[in-house]
Amino acid sequence: MDDPINLSVIYYSATGTTYKMAQAAVEAAEKAGAQVRLRKVRELAPEEAIRSNSGWHAHRLETEDVMEAEIDDLAWSDAVIFGTPTRYGVMAAQLKQFIDGSGPLWAKGVLVNKVFSGFCSTATAHGGQEATLLSLYNVVYHWGGIVVTPGYVEPSQFVGGNPYGASHTSNNGEIPPDEAALTATALTARRVVDIAAAVKRGLAAG
Ligand SMILES: Cc1cc2nc3c(=O)[nH]c(=O)nc-3n(C[C@H](O)[C@H](O)[C@H](O)COP(=O)(O)O)c2cc1C
Repeated sequence: MDDPINLSVIYYSATGTTYKMAQAAVEAAEKAGAQVRLRKVRELAPEEAIRSNSGWHAHRLETEDVMEAEIDDLAWSDAVIFGTPTRYGVMAAQLKQFIDGSGPLWAKGVLVNKVFSGFCSTATAHGGQEATLLSLYNVVYHWGGIVVTPGYVEPSQFVGGNPYGASHTSNNGEIPPDEAALTATALTARRVVDIAAAVKRGLAAG
């Protein structure tokens, strides 16, 4: 039997929407046989900003026990799924700051041929879900990684309707991820595990 795929779900979430999607990704990846790390990226916002928003403050307390992502998590992983709220059409600065620490791994080619995907959430339906995912994937092209998306590979994708990655419209964190978003997140995780396993086998076979 092949070694299990090492998969990290690395996310940022202020008010908990993206975190719930991260949990769905972890559950599906574990069911698919991967060894999974759930990691939040370091918070950068000032304490007064967090405390001024009760949902943000509550979520921070709720996830105190989730380990913070380290750059070594990228090196350990065969596959990584990034989760982020949309911030003006792109990923959150907290996730970008984490990604910007990847220089030493990039320089050594450590990220080449790893498999990546992403999921996101926005306040509004046309608030930039596709833009966020597409710009997130630009990073992967620089790393020489392999982008895997849910596409329309299962009928459920015609419900959520975002082939670029799982996404959810939260009305500023007030509407938790629905069935369509969680199903798309789980599908993404299964596909990432399957493709990462195929890539790993193929590379090992030369
Ligand atoms: C600074 C900032 C920028 C945001 N930009 C967008 C945006 O461009 N489009 C959008 O629909 N929502 C935007 N939002 C809302 C969040 O993306 C949305 O509430 C998201 O679901 C929050 O996820 P979380 O609960 O995981 O933090 C923004 C929120 C903040 C604080």
